[in-house]
Amino acid sequence: MSSIDLAAQYRSEFPIFEKLTYINSCSQGALSKSVKAAFTTYLSTLEEQGSAWNDWVTQQELVRGLMAKFLNAKPEEIALTTSASAGVNSLATALNFSGKRNKIVTTDNEFPTMGQIWHAQESRGAKIVHVKNNPDLTVDTQALINAIDEETLLVAITHVCYRNGARTDINPIIEAAHKMGALVVLDTYQTVGAINLDVTEIKADFIVGGLLKYMIAVPGVGFLYARENTTMDLIPTSTGWFAARDLFAMEIHSYDPAKEARRFETGTPNVPPLYPASAALEFMLKVGIKNVETYVAEIHDEIRAGIADIGGVVVTPAGRNQHGALLAVASTDEHAHVSALEALGIVTSCRDGNIRISPHFYNNREDVAKVVAGFAKTKDYLRK
Ligand SMILES: Cc1ncc(COP(=O)(O)O)c(C=O)c1O
Repeated sequence: MSSIDLAAQYRSEFPIFEKLTYINSCSQGALSKSVKAAFTTYLSTLEEQGSAWNDWVTQQELVRGLMAKFLNAKPEEIALTTSASAGVNSLATALNFSGKRNKIVTTDNEFPTMGQIWHAQESRGAKIVHVKNNPDLTVDTQALINAIDEETLLVAITHVCYRNGARTDINPIIEAAHKMGALVVLDTYQTVGAINLDVTEIKADFIVGGLLKYMIAVPGVGFLYARENTTMDLIPTSTGWFAARDLFAMEIHSYDPAKEARRFETGTPNVPPLYPASAALEFMLKVGIKNVETYVAEIHDEIRAGIADIGGVVVTPAGRNQHGALLAVASTDEHAHVSALEALGIVTSCRDGNIRISPHFYNNREDVAKVVAGFAKTKDYLRK
């Protein structure tokens, strides 16, 4: 039993548990009462002020500040985007592939966005190198390091794979990339809110992610962290007035982007989800990411043991530093399997032949028992 029972403290804030065994935070976090109320706050600005630009821009800066606090970064190092893809796209436009350094080294564990955006740069001269996984689906750290050479401009890696939950051993890769003079972008969508991310410890130059999964907010807000001392010279060619040094200059005869990471933004922010985003960030800061990490690791282990007991195969690597919150179970028919679990009131999701179970701080031992019982009842779908 965990020393801090987070579910006992916070579960009542999440009404969904009155109806369902919700264990799908790798897809969408559960809605808290405070995040729900924040939508109303946004609507009130429209009802009471009409065009509440001051409030909206203030809200954006509030989210930027909270996101920075969450990553132990400076607010100036955070760009707020509408999705992780938007941040990566903006970064891509800042890179020049016409010289000798035109290679992007990446893995086979990337979310489609990462593969697709980098391959889209081939028409601009980029060469994309995918490094093959180990048989246990983890990234082959040494092979990846070996692939980084003097022609490598950027190493693009995912922290935890969305398909199988395998965690990449990022620090040696980041160190090797820097030694070779290459930059690193880290996709943290499956770790932000689940695992402690501190930019003073993780030395990636760019960190990308979004707030709808373990960050318990809603679609529409992503972030791009750009390290101040290594990325200042990268200026995107995708831009807009919210990326300008002086937002109110209204200049149309020149391009004068902000020095801060804000230069990776474009036009009017996606205002409505910024309200739930700040409520969600405040919630996550109150719970404490280190508490979340410790608590969820125990829940994860208990589910893993329960699935093994009934003869299921967990394809997520077992070592404590080899996975995040996400746990993938091999299935013979993952879509039918998800539906069968759903019929029992258990919400999961699937990818590539696996059922994804993704506990968070609001899941408790009752959920663990229900999930294991659900898998026992749907045993025919378990792939050995
Ligand atoms: C690892 C990872 N990266 C990126 C994304 C996509 O993010 P977005 O839709 O915000 O671009 C996801 C979404 O599931 C993801 O799991």
